Amino acid sequence: MVVDDLRAGRADFVGDAPLVRADVGDRSAMDRAFGDYGPFDGVLHFAASLSVSESVAKPLDYYANNVAGSASLIGAALEHGARAFVLSSTAAVYGTPERLPITERSRIAPINPYGRSKSMVERILADVQSSHGLRYAALRYFNASGADPAGGIGECHDPEWHLIPLALEAAAGLRPKLKLFGSDYPTPDGTCIRDYIHVSDLAQAHVLAIESLLSGGPGGVYNLGTGRGHSNREVLSAVERVVGLPVPAEPAPRRPGDPAELVADATRFRNDFGWQPRFDLDAIVDTAWRWLSAWKGL
Ligand SMILES: NC(=O)c1ccc[n+]([C@@H]2O[C@H](COP(=O)([O-])OP(=O)(O)OC[C@H]3O[C@@H](n4cnc5c(N)ncnc54)[C@H](O)[C@@H]3O)[C@@H](O)[C@H]2O)c1
Repeated sequence: MVVDDLRAGRADFVGDAPLVRADVGDRSAMDRAFGDYGPFDGVLHFAASLSVSESVAKPLDYYANNVAGSASLIGAALEHGARAFVLSSTAAVYGTPERLPITERSRIAPINPYGRSKSMVERILADVQSSHGLRYAALRYFNASGADPAGGIGECHDPEWHLIPLALEAAAGLRPKLKLFGSDYPTPDGTCIRDYIHVSDLAQAHVLAIESLLSGGPGGVYNLGTGRGHSNREVLSAVERVVGLPVPAEPAPRRPGDPAELVADATRFRNDFGWQPRFDLDAIVDTAWRWLSAWKGL
């Protein structure tokens, strides 16, 4: 059963599962949903507000949705007998890392309300596990990207702010020049470096995590990334290779709060679960492009 109030989601992406259109922080709606569709073994909790810049402008909205909403959902899950809870966490809990690649032992030092809100939910889950036995995994994704290779589901935030869809749309002539934020970072080509992880690799990790929690296997906090960083310019080159057209781009000043480089050490998850990401950057861009072309009828 899927719960989404569709503030940013789309009903046609839900597939065959029943959709309950409700706010996960609405306790009486969640009590009804757990009662109507339960019993449930566990919850995969993706719902959140997730724009860093918006979180700086509207921190109370972020704490209300991501922290208070999650606490309410965790309470409902507990009361209705769920035994496992998987949280979409984020690399943003690390802020500007002191060392690379980032391991789970790196300092938790978020630099914006979005990152802080996710680290607070991680703490809530640790406390609830200790006191009530609800087992949890907090999966700290790096840059989620790509589209379902089978088609049908792709990335379409409104407004869009993620690099790969923006670059694909710019190459296809669907938007004007792409702004490349910062070309003077201490990286080989001066642009920011990020670790792109395909959504299907993330999806598989969620299945492994919840099955493990339910069968008494490992849990806790995990990084999810490929361990390989790509600069913004490398992403634009991958888009040009896949689409076969140049990406019109113009340099723009750095955005405040963008660390130069974020690359995951996901050894802990790989070792605990035998997981191995299958999609490299070109495959990520290829699935995103195939989805965008079908969606826009290109
Ligand atoms: N996209 C990334 O690169 C990335 C990286 C790290 C972590 N994450 C986390 O992954 C999760 C999913 O992100 P996404 O990129 O798919 O974003 P998204 O906006 O596409 O998905 C979030 C969904 O949650 C829904 N939602 C939000 N608040 C809700 C509420 N209170 N009640 C019910 N539904 C609600 C939205 O309508 C939307 O469908 C988020 O928790 C995000 O913080 C994403």
